[in-house]
Amino acid sequence: MSDMLEENQNQPKLKAPKGVHDILPEDHQFMTMIKKVVRHRARQSGFRRISTPIFESTDVFARGIGDSTDIVKKEMFSFSSKDGKRSYSLKPESTAGVVRAYLEHGMINLPQPVELYYIEPHFRYDKPQKGRYRQFHQLGFEVIGELDPALDAQIINLAHKINQDLEISELLTLQINSIGCKKCRGQYIEDLKNFYYGKERSLCFDCKDRLEKNPLRLLDCKEEDCQILAKMAPKIDQALCPECKDYHKNVLEFLEELDIPYVENTSLVRGLDYYNRTVFEFWGKEEGAQNAIGGGGRYDGLVEIMGGPETPAVGYAAGMERLIGYMKEKGIKPIHKDKIQVFVAQLGAVAKKKSLGLVGQLRDLGIHVLGAHGKGSIKAQMRMADRFDADWTLLLGQIEVQDGTIILRDMKKGSQEILSFDNVLEEMVTRIGPENLDKTTIWE
Ligand code: HAM
Repeated sequence: MSDMLEENQNQPKLKAPKGVHDILPEDHQFMTMIKKVVRHRARQSGFRRISTPIFESTDVFARGIGDSTDIVKKEMFSFSSKDGKRSYSLKPESTAGVVRAYLEHGMINLPQPVELYYIEPHFRYDKPQKGRYRQFHQLGFEVIGELDPALDAQIINLAHKINQDLEISELLTLQINSIGCKKCRGQYIEDLKNFYYGKERSLCFDCKDRLEKNPLRLLDCKEEDCQILAKMAPKIDQALCPECKDYHKNVLEFLEELDIPYVENTSLVRGLDYYNRTVFEFWGKEEGAQNAIGGGGRYDGLVEIMGGPETPAVGYAAGMERLIGYMKEKGIKPIHKDKIQVFVAQLGAVAKKKSLGLVGQLRDLGIHVLGAHGKGSIKAQMRMADRFDADWTLLLGQIEVQDGTIILRDMKKGSQEILSFDNVLEEMVTRIGPENLDKTTIWE
């Protein structure tokens, strides 16, 4: 044993860091299904895809999401540039970055609204638990540049359609609220603070801090004592100004028109500071479901906060790992094209050469083919074909090479027949069916 090998064996085993996961091939089948649904639904509504960088200036998130939010205060992976002069952070969400890109690339001069979607990894230094990871993936939509309650309803409709396409819609409820505008929220926050003053002792550690810095968040704390108080606290729907009330009424009427069931939830406030008026989330219906699969709302002040002119906007993002969790719970088997259709086994040097060309030609026709490259016996190669769950095996030995033939074995039936080597491509296309061929196309 070499010294290096011995040394490596004494090292601790290498593992992925806490809270981050490999996406194994089985889960990629779910991911692919979700991406396909998202791309279709996005194209149908005129959205175009954007990717912002994995890391940005910390300021983009601090300004965009809000200094006092849990995300910025506790959950960002931040690091400095080598000269120590700049701070960067891995993106915990995409809305702030998309707005930065909208301004940086002059999208404000395009016909408005600008409709963008993304499918991206994100990073939050959360305490890892089921459905809560340090690297996770979001699909998201942003509509920037127009103010109309119909747009809020359309974004919700898009999210609802995606849930329906993934066949998990009936496991979820849409929770919706209006958190008002700058005008009416100011007075409401004062009322809220006044309600909580004197009751600080019953609040959890975080909520004591929230009372001064972000009182709205007191309403959706998950701690039991805080929830009891939140139920008694003044409700925002009573404090909305006539414009916000009217706007919210319109959004709800549009949802009814679109046949989307909803639950009005006056405690829903969302964990990011940029929202105003409409906020919404999709929750699991099951008892004790704590995690939303997705959420969004209107953010009419964010473009201005990021240095642009007053520009209304609305958006939504869902967590792909959480969607997959519900899909698995429902027993959904993702449709995929990973099946091995043909296994090519061979024996002898000439057969090996000939089979190499055959494997390539079969693949070019759109057939999924594995070839045995090892020197194993035909029996060992057949066992491999079985383990890879191939539908058919083609066998090429010295005799077949001499006779210009090839053996075709139907792996399910266990039957075998001899084909002419010259006809094998045509035969395989017929047996697999032209509709099952996986052709490379740039038009999918
Ligand atoms: P968010 O509610 O922070 O909103 O995240 C959206 C979704 O991302 C959540 O509902 C959840 O499914 C998923 N998610 C968040 N954190 C984690 C985590 N640690 N592990 C697994 N999944 C997670 C936003 O990010 C907003 N940018 C949404 C938006 C877009 N609002 C307007 N436009």
